[in-house]
Amino acid sequence: MSTIVSPSVLSADFANLERDVKMLNSSSAEWLHIDIMDGQFVPNISFGLPVMKAIHKHATKPLDVHLMIATPDDYIDDFKDAGAAILTVHYESCPHLHRTLQRIKSAGMKTGVALNPHTPVDLLKDILHDIDLVLIMSVNPGFGGQKFISQSVEKVRSLKSMITETKAKTLIEVDGGVNLDTGKLLVDAGADALVAGSFVFGSENPVETIQKLGHL
Ligand code: DX5
Ligand code: ZN
Repeated sequence: MSTIVSPSVLSADFANLERDVKMLNSSSAEWLHIDIMDGQFVPNISFGLPVMKAIHKHATKPLDVHLMIATPDDYIDDFKDAGAAILTVHYESCPHLHRTLQRIKSAGMKTGVALNPHTPVDLLKDILHDIDLVLIMSVNPGFGGQKFISQSVEKVRSLKSMITETKAKTLIEVDGGVNLDTGKLLVDAGADALVAGSFVFGSENPVETIQKLGHL
């Protein structure tokens, strides 16, 4: 069975975004991962709505948007307008997470919840049926190219059994330090989708790398 691959545009060449997005269009990637960082929730600033709109203009695949921002509730409609198909917010930045998810859904997007490495998966149990995607962070969010936190594999396994037990349809995506080795461990533990930034864009043949990540 193949895995969904969502290459992170954060590692693309921002001066050649159109070229890089077209490369991803031609690959077997199913989604494009868009990392939005505000310098508040995470200690880094990436890019915002205008750049995302420019990516959307050229992308032929759904945009899988990962909001690493302090007040995601204020921008739900803006991200819909900028072309988000999946909108993932952090558990840690949403005091009324269920309400946030309802708003994302009624705006016409798939709902995603990201968990920092220290946040246990059990916290999502009661609202799992309202979550289309859980994004397990296997690095501390904020930067590409960091080392994989190996306890994430166990987290994926626990989340998978929780999903099976509750008969939810939630997908598991993992983000940070993904390569062929860590990716294989994650897929075996139950991951449905893998985000990969530096491993894809730093490889000699990104299209081939994406193909390999999809068939671990
Ligand atoms: C980190 C971002 C990731 C990042 C992954 O905060 O959420 O999506 O781009 O980069 P790699 O694959 O290089 O760890
Ligand atoms: Zn991300």
